[in-house]
Amino acid sequence: MNDIIGKKQRDWVTSMKGQKYMLQDPTLAEYTSCSERVVTPIYPQDASLIVSLLDLHPSTPDTEDRTKEERLEIFEAGTGHGSLTLHLARAIHGANTHAPNIPSSATTSEDEEGDAYGVWRANRRALISSIDASAAHSSHAQMVVRNFRRGMYYPHVDFHVGEIVDFLSSRLASNKDEPFLTHAILDLPDPSLYLEILSKALNPFGKLVTFSPSVTQTLNSFQAVKEQRLPLILEKVLEVGAGFGSGGREWDLRSVLPKSRQQNVKQIERHSTNVSGDTMLNDEETETSQTNSESEPDVEPWQDTSQEDLETVCRPKPGVRIEGGGFIGLWRRMHF
Ligand SMILES: C[S@@+](CC[C@H](N)C(=O)[O-])C[C@H]1O[C@@H](n2cnc3c(N)ncnc32)[C@H](O)[C@@H]1O
Repeated sequence: MNDIIGKKQRDWVTSMKGQKYMLQDPTLAEYTSCSERVVTPIYPQDASLIVSLLDLHPSTPDTEDRTKEERLEIFEAGTGHGSLTLHLARAIHGANTHAPNIPSSATTSEDEEGDAYGVWRANRRALISSIDASAAHSSHAQMVVRNFRRGMYYPHVDFHVGEIVDFLSSRLASNKDEPFLTHAILDLPDPSLYLEILSKALNPFGKLVTFSPSVTQTLNSFQAVKEQRLPLILEKVLEVGAGFGSGGREWDLRSVLPKSRQQNVKQIERHSTNVSGDTMLNDEETETSQTNSESEPDVEPWQDTSQEDLETVCRPKPGVRIEGGGFIGLWRRMHF
């Protein structure tokens, strides 16, 4: 270990057993996987997939007419090990100008207005607001993020400790109840509890990712959206983990109208003046989807069919393959 300190990339060191090793910087994936942990991180391949699903397109700081550019703000709960935080920060790095030296006393959740670093932070065009209920996890994650490549991604992140609802409510209040988030990620035990406040804080068409160890939590979120009639559409459910390749196994999670009940609905439709002709009824299919699906874009999830008629499908999609362990739900904030 002591032999490594002070050495440069491509220098050689010799182990106690006489084995020679060439030194090189750890990749982000190696760093997040191998750094000391207090909580299970999102593994690099899953973090990369989540970043890709969020479809981030930060513009460069020299973009003309900056006034038209909306600030890209990603909300992340919980911060955990800081693994996903680092992957997100790397993805938005090009949107901000070069950060001044980070003051040694700086904690990125503080307001350091006035000094160069504080002024720079106030003018960032892309940032991550990352919250964790545990102060210990948050401070560990700050250390993880700050120690990677001399803190090159640290200035893009604001770390917070506390309650999600309190944080988002106070931000909404200071923003005249206007949404302000372009993207959000929930990696905590019960994402369904925070969908209501997030559906207020997310911009129309903003993307939300939920990451859960079991499909049941994704299902609970789906049910919560239906019951509370929240303006969120579940676009994709992916199972990630060893054996599914690098893009996850796609799951089919949606409300359907079973064929046995379609006839009833058809009869009701014929006698109803209120029901529009939009409800999809297809005799060729065994069921009719009532939620978003790329192939059925016109079906709106909460309209026309009564909730009692609907059943929930939750199964792997056959034949679809695109790699940690868990279920990613990709949601979109709709604007009805
Ligand atoms: C699995 S870890 C997140 C790992 C992280 N995404 C990463 O990539 O390193 C879950 C975190 O959620 C935090 N957490 C649990 N309930 C929470 C809540 N209600 N609000 C905020 N954070 C919460 C936990 O303290 C824990 O640090």
